[in-house]
Amino acid sequence: MDLEVGSVQEEALEQVARAQSLPELEQVRVAYLGRKGKLTQLLRQMGELPPEERPRRGAQVNEAKRRVEEALEARRRELAQAEEERRLAAERLDVTLPGWRPALGHRHPVSLAMDEILRFFTGLGYEAVEGPEVETDYYNFEALNIPPDHPARDMQDTFYLQGELLLRTHTSPGQIHTMEACRPPVRVVVPGRVYRRDADATHSPMFHQVEGLLVDRRVTLGDLKGTLIAFVRAIFGQDRKVRFRPSYFPFTEPSAEMDVACWVCDGAGCRLCGGEGWIEILGCGMVHPRVLEMVGYDPQEVSGFAFGMGVERVAMLKYAVSDIRLFFENDQRFLASFPAYLVEPPQPGSPTLQEEVGA
Ligand code: FA5
Ligand code: MG
Repeated sequence: MDLEVGSVQEEALEQVARAQSLPELEQVRVAYLGRKGKLTQLLRQMGELPPEERPRRGAQVNEAKRRVEEALEARRRELAQAEEERRLAAERLDVTLPGWRPALGHRHPVSLAMDEILRFFTGLGYEAVEGPEVETDYYNFEALNIPPDHPARDMQDTFYLQGELLLRTHTSPGQIHTMEACRPPVRVVVPGRVYRRDADATHSPMFHQVEGLLVDRRVTLGDLKGTLIAFVRAIFGQDRKVRFRPSYFPFTEPSAEMDVACWVCDGAGCRLCGGEGWIEILGCGMVHPRVLEMVGYDPQEVSGFAFGMGVERVAMLKYAVSDIRLFFENDQRFLASFPAYLVEPPQPGSPTLQEEVGA
């Protein structure tokens, strides 16, 4: 072999062996076998040789190219394998590491209270129906015996939309929709969001109510009281004190509001209940004959009772929450404490949930 071909071949093989990565190896290939590579140049220069020497020289250069190509291929495989091994080592999973427990969500306290209320009444045979949150003035007020200039409108100031439309201030329009659609006997509960121009520790501008309506022959105030007392016992326990206070609603006669003894002071009066000892959870009464007439029922034939309860108030009493705004602030410390509270409900005199979680 010519010295020149021999030394280029040696040099190439040495560089192939020294290449530490696939890109480096590619550089070596280009340097010897590329268009301007050293071995390629040797083939080109053959034209300058005397004709009789060309075949021998051509065979030598081709042989050198073959060996370098072989060496390149062998080294390429080695490097690729080493790289694969490094990658596998780096990506290795340690299946013995402790896993991550996914944080499980749970239902919002207002939804929990809502579910319990509905479960009680559907268990008694009431049907749950829903109504629109955007109402007309007619359904929210007039059909409930509250004409435009009636002072009772002041008790429920709301958010007015265009024209006759407003955000409903209570679920009582559900009474009218139900009675317009069905003949007696009717027995429904209407859960939903309602809106008022209200805001303090026990009043939220958006809150939830559950309306109840029962109309049939010979329904009495005794039926209303019995139903609601059974409700309070089912939700708050057998010993919880309740009281009915005479009240006024244009769409019921007589009317009452029902209070539940404050869970902190058990009726003695404290900061949570504003010294009252009681917290109001609902308004109720016997459906006013004029309301029955307006939906085409005969007040001589049928009578009924209705009630509208505040779901947040029920949740506050049941879960010992001292400020209604906590339900809507989405503070995780507050919300996350609920699963524990459901297992062990608060006892009279225990700290409020707010104090307990420092929210
Ligand atoms: C009414 O809304 C009547 N529609 C209830 C009714 C229905 C009476 C059927 C007769 C027959 P009142 O405005 O008192 O009544 O509200 C009822 C309950 O909703 C209250 O007892 C209270 O628990 C709750 N509530 C009222 N305003 C708010 C508020 N801003 N935030 C949270 N809860 C409230
Ligand atoms: Mg009230």
